Amino acid sequence: MSFDVQAIREQFPILQRKIDNKPLVYLDNAATTQKPQCVIDAIVNYYTTSNSNVHRGAHQLADEATRAFEGARDIIAAFINANVREEVIWTSGTTESINIVAHGLASLLAHGDEVIVTAMEHHANLVTWQQTCQQSGATLRIVPITDAGELDMEAYYALLNSKTKFVAFPHVSNALGTVNPIKDMTEKAKDVGAWVLIDGAQGIAHFNVDVQSIGCDFYVFSAHKIYGPMGMGILWGRKSLLEDWPVWKTGGEMISTVTLETATWNVLPYRFEAGTPNVADAIAFGEAIRWFSALDQTALHAHEQAVMQYATEQANAFDGLSIIGQAQDKVGVLSFTLAAGHPADIGFLLDRQGIAIRTGDHCAQPIMARFNVPGTARASFAAYTTFSEIDALFQGLHKVKKMLA
Ligand SMILES: Cc1ncc(COP(=O)(O)O)c(C=O)c1O
Repeated sequence: MSFDVQAIREQFPILQRKIDNKPLVYLDNAATTQKPQCVIDAIVNYYTTSNSNVHRGAHQLADEATRAFEGARDIIAAFINANVREEVIWTSGTTESINIVAHGLASLLAHGDEVIVTAMEHHANLVTWQQTCQQSGATLRIVPITDAGELDMEAYYALLNSKTKFVAFPHVSNALGTVNPIKDMTEKAKDVGAWVLIDGAQGIAHFNVDVQSIGCDFYVFSAHKIYGPMGMGILWGRKSLLEDWPVWKTGGEMISTVTLETATWNVLPYRFEAGTPNVADAIAFGEAIRWFSALDQTALHAHEQAVMQYATEQANAFDGLSIIGQAQDKVGVLSFTLAAGHPADIGFLLDRQGIAIRTGDHCAQPIMARFNVPGTARASFAAYTTFSEIDALFQGLHKVKKMLA
């Protein structure tokens, strides 16, 4: 079945926009994806017809809101093949999901324990564990990256030992595009009895994520990276772990009984969902997943890989351009530098041509240090990216090069 990119594009109103009278070429999808009309409609419809607080009210609107909200949880649970729906916790995004796990972990670790992360992390999956180790007295160990931008797997295996209590790594690197062997990494960590968290922020939109088959303990991601709304995300965790994991935020909804002196906690998933949740965006997230799941996943993957290959070929042929991150297995992320100028100038001059990319350290300063660059220019692709947009990018880059010369 062929992949109808135009039909997909028509569902994204923002892609009709012009920037300075030029058609928008949106190549910043690793930062956030655009939203199809059905996701936008889900938010508008919720506030237009059913807005109410969930779980609490004894009236029609509260009932409708609760059903839609919990229905969205079911959609997400099925999408990642959670064992049970209670394992799916609404959060504000990947960052918050990691912080919830890290906050609990700090009280479960002790001096002498070890936590492993990689040199390929987004700051969200690095600084958090630095703090956890500082608070608990545990030691942070780091898996290095090879020159190609892959994890050094031999070094990873060598770091694992009986003191390893927790391992966290990204499914996909946001700065390099590298796809990590998450199943193998999980298996090896499990062999030494460690808990495993996978930062799925950049993986969720590109792979069929089956948390049971991966075998990890936590898989976290953000709605806005998979065509859903901002400020919404998921902490998936194994039920047996989450049931006893220390609670994070306290307040309404997450309690079972409260006296003036003390309180007991609610069951999953509510014990991690204190306060009024982001109902509209949860529903819209469910809609985004429903929309995304309806795409032919094999054709989508093939399309994204073809776009990436096309972009990589043009990049390789571009004099003065260096690709940062040359892993064997990559998603549609092209990080690069130009000898002609600073990434910030590249971004600015492309923007004048209607081309949106991201420049800077991509919240991954240690990766920039590893490759000895101040930052990179990063073009990142999605389901709606076309080959002509890649042509526009490289035509734009040729102009940038002339302007900088
Ligand atoms: C790999 C990775 N981890 C974590 C995050 C943080 O996601 P959020 O800002 O949605 O919490 C990002 C965002 O770019 C990311 O790319």
